[in-house]
Amino acid sequence: FLININGNLMKGPEAQISVFDRGFLYGDSVYEATRTFDKKPFRLERHIDRLFLSAEKISLIPTYSKEVITSEVLKTVEASPYQNVTIRIVLTRGTNSDLGLDTELSGPNNLVIFTKEIKPNPAWWVTDGVSMIFYQKQIEASGSLPKTGNYQENILANREAHERAAYDAFLINTHGFVTEGTTSNAWIIKDGTLYTPPLADGVLDGLTRKTLIEMSKDGRLPLPLIEKSLTKKDFIDADECFITSTTRNIVPVTKIENHAVKNGRPGLQTLELLKLYLDFVK
Ligand code: PDD
Repeated sequence: FLININGNLMKGPEAQISVFDRGFLYGDSVYEATRTFDKKPFRLERHIDRLFLSAEKISLIPTYSKEVITSEVLKTVEASPYQNVTIRIVLTRGTNSDLGLDTELSGPNNLVIFTKEIKPNPAWWVTDGVSMIFYQKQIEASGSLPKTGNYQENILANREAHERAAYDAFLINTHGFVTEGTTSNAWIIKDGTLYTPPLADGVLDGLTRKTLIEMSKDGRLPLPLIEKSLTKKDFIDADECFITSTTRNIVPVTKIENHAVKNGRPGLQTLELLKLYLDFVK
C-alpha cells in the first residue's frame, strides 16, 4: 500500500490516524473506490463528485475542496511504483475533541487515500461465473444511497455468503425487491432485455451501472435496458445475471441460492457486454 493521510505519503504499516477520528468512532465517513488504468485514475472527477454527494447526504461539510482531493489522489498515484492500482478515498468528518456524537466536536475532515497494486480479475469469474445468495436487509433504505463508512449490513451479508460458500449476497430491501450486491450493482437479462433495479429501491448510484445506462442511451448496447424493481424470482428465472463495480467491471453470476442461472454457464450476452464495456472505457 502507498497511503496519503491529509497530504502526507507513507507506506501501509506506518499509516495511523487518531483514535478520536469519527470514521473510527462511529463510521462517520464517506468513501469512494476506483482504480487507475496505466497510472490514469478512472473517472476520478465522477468519483469525487459522488463522494461530495454522499457527504451532503450525511451533512458532512467537506473541509477539503474537490480540487485539493483530486491533486492529492494524483500525487499518491504518481508516487506509487505501480501502473495499475486500486484507489480508495476516505473522507471522515474529522478528529473529535471528545467522544461525543455532536458534530461540533469534530475538527477538520481527515482525508485518507489508499493505493494498492491491482490484481487482474480471477479468470474463473468469466469461465465459471460466481454464486450469490439472497440477504434480507433490516434497514429501510430508499433512493440512491450515500457511500458511507456504515457497511454493517453489507458486511454481515458478505459474511453469510462466505459461510455458505458463495461469492457474495444480493441485498433484499424491506419491500422484497433485490437491490444490489454488497459492493456491486445487480443485473439480469430476460428475453433479450437487460434489467437493473432503480435507484429508488435503495441502490448505490454505481458508476459502472451509469456507464451501461449511458451506453444504452447512445445505442451502443445490443439489447434494450430497463430500470425496474426486480424480485428474487426474477433473478432465479433470469436467462443471464451479472454484477458490476469499478474495481471488477462486469462479473457473470451463474448460481443464486444453489439454483443454476439458466444452464449455469456465464451468459453469452453478458460476456458480449463485458467486451463492449471494456472497449468503451479503456
Ligand atoms: N463498491 N453498490 C455498492 C454498495 C458498492 O459499494 C459499489 C462499489 C457499487 C458499484 O459502484 P461503482 O460501479 O461506482 O464501483 C454498488 C466499491 C467497489 C467498493 O466498495 O470497494
